Amino acid sequence: MLGLATGKTPVGLYERLRKKPEAFAKVRFFNLDEFYGLAPSDPTSFNGFLHHHLIDHVKHDPKNVHFFRGDVKDLEAQAEKVEDEIRAVGGIDLQILGIGRNGHVGFNEPGSSLGSRTRPKTLEPETLAHYARNLDTQAPLSNFAITMGVGTILESKRCLMLVSGVEKAEIVRVMVEGPVTSEAPASALQMHPHAVVVLDEAAASKLKRRDYYKWVSENKWRVGQ
Ligand code: PGA
Repeated sequence: MLGLATGKTPVGLYERLRKKPEAFAKVRFFNLDEFYGLAPSDPTSFNGFLHHHLIDHVKHDPKNVHFFRGDVKDLEAQAEKVEDEIRAVGGIDLQILGIGRNGHVGFNEPGSSLGSRTRPKTLEPETLAHYARNLDTQAPLSNFAITMGVGTILESKRCLMLVSGVEKAEIVRVMVEGPVTSEAPASALQMHPHAVVVLDEAAASKLKRRDYYKWVSENKWRVGQ
C-alpha cells in the first residue's frame, strides 16, 4: 500500500523506482491530492503526473490504482470512498510526502485540523499561483482541491518526506524544530512514530541542530560499539 506525492521533489525517486518495473505487481497505489476539475487524462492533473512519472512504466494491476479524480462532481463522496478504500486495505504502508513553502502537506493548507480526514479543500492564493507558474497548463486551475487529511496521513505506517532547496529551509526548520501547529500542518509529522525526513544541504541549512542530526545519521549504527 504505497501513497504517492506529486511535485518536482519526488521525480528523482520515481525515476529510480521505474528501474524495478517488476516490483510493483502487487502494490496498491494511493495519492495525496488532486485539483478539482482536472480529468486524469489531463497531463496537468496529479493523477496524470503520477501515471507519467511512475505508473505507466511499471507492471501494475489497474484495479490497484486508487488515485483521486478531479473531474467528479461530488468531491465529498470521493473523499469518503478513498477513506473507505484505505481502511479496506488495512492502511497505507508507506506514504511519500513533500512540503509546500507554507507548511502544507498534501493540500492541507495552514489552519487545517491536525485530525482532518480526506476532504475538499480551498487552496491559498500563493499555492495556486505557485502551481500556475510551474504547471504547463492552458486552462485556469481551480482553487478547489481534494486532499488526504492530516489525520489520514498520520495513520500511514511509515512516512517518508523529501525536501530540497534553500527556498524550503525556513519551513523545514518550522516543521522539524518548531511547535506542532496547524499553522504548519506538516509539523504534525513530529507526532508520527516512523517518519523520516530526507533533506539536501540547502533545505537543512536553517536547522538549529543540523550538526547533531548529521552526526546521528552518520553514526547511529556505531552507538555502543
Ligand atoms: P514541490 O511540491 O515538490 O513541487 O516543491 C511540494 C508540495 O507543495 O507539497
